Amino acid sequence: MSDKDISQQAFSYTSGAYWQRLKKGQHERLAKLCKPARTGVILDMTSGLLQDSLILARCGYQVTALERNQELYTIAQKALSDFAKDTGFEDTANRIQHLNTDALTWESNLRFEVVYLDPMFPERNKSAAVTKEAQLLQQHETPASAEEELALLNVAKAFASKRIIVKRPPSAPHLAGQAPSFSDEGKAIRYDIYLQP
Ligand SMILES: C[S@@+](CC[C@H](N)C(=O)[O-])C[C@H]1O[C@@H](n2cnc3c(N)ncnc32)[C@H](O)[C@@H]1O
Repeated sequence: MSDKDISQQAFSYTSGAYWQRLKKGQHERLAKLCKPARTGVILDMTSGLLQDSLILARCGYQVTALERNQELYTIAQKALSDFAKDTGFEDTANRIQHLNTDALTWESNLRFEVVYLDPMFPERNKSAAVTKEAQLLQQHETPASAEEELALLNVAKAFASKRIIVKRPPSAPHLAGQAPSFSDEGKAIRYDIYLQP
């Protein structure tokens, strides 16, 4: 499938394995790692297509989701409003505050118990196994540079009162070369958790 074909397809949350997960709305690793958020409010600093934010919202969290890229923001915003209209999961969609802004310059006095980061990582596998969503993200954004990784982690530390959760491929180096407090290892995804002092 060419890049053009992918960008012309309507992006939706209601197909395939992701939709099955969303309908179920439980036993999500990421949601379990967010449990220290007693207020239930999470900051997703790099929300992309909102797939992770939406899973967290479905598990009951309120999510403030930041996305700097205008096109990706618009694609996700449209998918979110279709999702709210078409599925009856309006309450879930309403738990997301979706903002088109750069997390590194976002002016807010708010603090969040849990901050989530999923920066772009170079895709090693260019084969058909790469998902449509990953291809869509790659069309619009480039992997974070070493400087961006460090800036994202530092800003996340300024916003987080309890923990920062970073999503990485299993064998990827730690974000900005900084070792986490602990990791939750899975077959396809590793979550690195940085506990705040
Ligand atoms: C791998 S994607 C995130 C995918 C997302 N977790 C999801 O479920 O769809 C990373 C996203 O972070 C965004 N991003 C990178 N740096 C950012 C920044 N400083 N502020 C806001 N968004 C940023 C990119 O535009 C990209 O959409």
